[in-house]
Amino acid sequence: MRFTFRGGRLALPTGIVDGDLRVVDGRIDAIGVVEGDPGEEIDAKGLMVMPGVIDPQVHFREPGATHKEDLETGSRACVAGGVTSFLEMPNTSPPTTSREAIADKKTRASGRARANYGFFIGATPDNVDELVACDGACGIKIFMGSSTGSLLVNDRADLDNIFSKGRRLIAVHAEDEARLIERKKQFAGRTDPKVHTEIRDAKAALMATTLAVELSEKYDRRLHVLHMSTGDEADLLVERGKGDGRITCEVLPQHLMLNAPEIYDRIGTRAQMNPPLRTKEHSERLWRGLHDGTVDCIATDHAPHTLEEKGQGYGPAPSGMPGVETSLAVMLDAAHRGLCSVEDVVRWMTDGPRRVYRIVGKGRLEVGFDADLAIVDLGRSEKVGARGYFTKSGWSPFDGMTLKGWPVRTYVGGHLAFADGEVLDGVFGGELTYAQ
Ligand code: DOR
Repeated sequence: MRFTFRGGRLALPTGIVDGDLRVVDGRIDAIGVVEGDPGEEIDAKGLMVMPGVIDPQVHFREPGATHKEDLETGSRACVAGGVTSFLEMPNTSPPTTSREAIADKKTRASGRARANYGFFIGATPDNVDELVACDGACGIKIFMGSSTGSLLVNDRADLDNIFSKGRRLIAVHAEDEARLIERKKQFAGRTDPKVHTEIRDAKAALMATTLAVELSEKYDRRLHVLHMSTGDEADLLVERGKGDGRITCEVLPQHLMLNAPEIYDRIGTRAQMNPPLRTKEHSERLWRGLHDGTVDCIATDHAPHTLEEKGQGYGPAPSGMPGVETSLAVMLDAAHRGLCSVEDVVRWMTDGPRRVYRIVGKGRLEVGFDADLAIVDLGRSEKVGARGYFTKSGWSPFDGMTLKGWPVRTYVGGHLAFADGEVLDGVFGGELTYAQ
C-alpha cells in the first residue's frame, strides 16, 4: 500500500498547513513535501486531512442489548463520523467485569469492528483482583452513581479499596448515589422529563467528583472524570489542580451545545441522559475549561437506545443518546460559529484522548503513526439525519440541525473505510495498545 494526498490542508500537531502526506503500508510515511515514489496520488485540494477521531467513551451494547447497537453497527457509525478508534464501556449484559469478559469483547470485535477498539473493565464492590490483573483493559470504569445497567460502587470503603490497589487509570461516572436517591423521592410524581435535570443536579455531580479527586490524591492514582457536565466540577479541578496530569477529564458535545430546560420542550425524553443536560451557564464554563486546558478531551458517551424505548415517557425511558456519527461535525460547526478553532477541535478529539489513555501510534499526523485519517470538507453543510443513520438506534439529538464541516472519507490503518456516504466492506480496526 502506497498513496499520497496532494495539496490537502494537513492538521498537524503544530497547526494546519498546506502540504502532501504519504501513506505506506498503513502508516504515515512522509509529511509536507513528499519526495520519492508517491504511489497512487489522491487530490485533497480543498479538504482537510486530520487524524481520525478517538472517541474515549462509547456504549455499543454487545453482548446483551444488540437490538440497540452492536460492535459492528456502532463502529460503522464511527467511521461514518470520522471516528477511527473507540473505547467501549463495561455496562453491557453481562457487564465486563473480568479478564474473561474483556477477552470475549476483543474476540467479538476482531474482524467485525470497523474502527480500532479498546475496552474498559467495570468495577464492582468485589472484583478488585480482576481490576488489578486486567492488563488488556484501557482503564477501570466506576459508576459512582447508577445509570444504565447494574454497575455501581458507591460505598466509601469499596472505593478506597479499588483506588488503593493497582495502578491502572480509573475513569468515573461521577454522580452521588445517595443524593440521586434522595432527590428522586423528593420529586416523585413529576412526570415531565425536565425533572431529570433537577433530580440529578449539579451538586450530585460535584459531590462525586470531589470524592474521586480526594481518592486520587490520597492514593496517587490516575483519575479520569468522564462526561464532566458542570462548571462547578471545572472550578474544583482548577482550585485543586490536576496533579500534573494525574487527573484528567472530558466533556461531551451535547453538554456543550444542548441546554436544559428548553431542550426537553423540543425533544422530550430523547434529551434524557446521565449526567443530564444542564443550563447554558454550565456549558459556557465547560467551553472555558476546554480553552484554558482544564478539560483534556472530548468524548461522546454514545449511548444508543431505540426510539421506541426513548418514547416511553419519563420514568421508563432509558437515559442516553447516540453520538459517534455526529460528534466531529457538531464540533466543526461550533468552530465555524466561532466558539473555537478547527485546530482546537482536532486537538481535543485526537491528541487529547491519545494523551489521556496513552494510546500508542494514534491521534496525530506524525511520521510513523498509523494512517487512521479523517478527510474533512470544512465547507460542506448538511442536515443531521438527511443521509440516514448508521447507528442501529437510528436517531440523533442533533437531528434536523444543519451543520457545516463534515468528514467525507475515513481511513483506518490506511484502508478506505468510509467514502461518499457509504461504509465500505472488508476494512476492520485492530486492538488499541497503551503505553505504561
Ligand atoms: O445517559 C447515559 N447512558 N449515561 C450513562 O452513564 C450510561 C449510558 C447508557 O449506557 O445508556
